[in-house]
Amino acid sequence: MNNDSIQKTLIVAIGLCLVCSLVVSVSAVSLKPQQEQNKIVDKQGNILGVVGLLKDKASIAELYEKNIESVVVDLDTGEYVSDIDANTYDQRSAAADPSLSIKLDKKDDIAGIGRRAKQASVYLVRDSAGAIKYYILPVHGYGLWSTLYGFLALEADANTVYGLSFYDHAETPGLGGEVDNPKWKALWRGKKVYNDNGEAALSVVKGAVNPSSQTIQYEVDGLAGATLTSRGVSNMLTYWLGQNGFNKFLTNERSRG
Ligand SMILES: Cc1cc2nc3c(=O)[nH]c(=O)nc-3n(C[C@H](O)[C@H](O)[C@H](O)COP(=O)(O)O)c2cc1C
Repeated sequence: MNNDSIQKTLIVAIGLCLVCSLVVSVSAVSLKPQQEQNKIVDKQGNILGVVGLLKDKASIAELYEKNIESVVVDLDTGEYVSDIDANTYDQRSAAADPSLSIKLDKKDDIAGIGRRAKQASVYLVRDSAGAIKYYILPVHGYGLWSTLYGFLALEADANTVYGLSFYDHAETPGLGGEVDNPKWKALWRGKKVYNDNGEAALSVVKGAVNPSSQTIQYEVDGLAGATLTSRGVSNMLTYWLGQNGFNKFLTNERSRG
């Protein structure tokens, strides 16, 4: 066939497309399990990281297995749930399933999440005597461009922040993306979550925290040039620490001592 003929050009172009699409499809399908596994390891690394237990990226699975206990709690009652396998429960998928989640009223949906799973994962770290040392709570909410997913770690009193970190978001690097800046994340340690009335009081303020503020223990500096992401983080925490989030569970834990 003549190299310059229309038929030959079409046959070569279509053949090339078919071969390339086959290569891409086979790679996508065969690498899917590996991608899923990488996502799980990444999440485990973040859970370890928020409580300072991530020492070596190569041994995430081992460190996780040794240090982290997964549990599931019912957000309406604040009680532990025993009939769900906490190691395989996927709160993100449950939130998208109408039978496993609730649709939030607009007035309650301050984090902009639309629906929330009825049951939530909680990760526990225990000390050598078996007492709870940290509670690690998954939190998510809308920033400026994206939903931010992260973990809030509380100390054994279920009221003092140990750490906050995000593992998935699409905020602008250098602006909202500064939620990942270690210096900003360090500001959270030691802050208190609940005021004397048991209401969620932790928030991100606009600008820097006033050193003479009466409520300094609940306040964290806002991110410069990223007021909307900062507000998103603040709203997300108010939601997840509130009555529709982990408030009942944490109140139960505090009263259990
Ligand atoms: C390209 C571009 C990206 C931006 N990304 C963010 C962002 O990720 N988070 C954010 O809060 N504001 C972002 N902003 C700024 C917001 O539009 C808004 O001006 C800002 O949140 C106001 O904060 P300020 O009051 O601290 O200046 C971005 C602006 C531009 C032009």
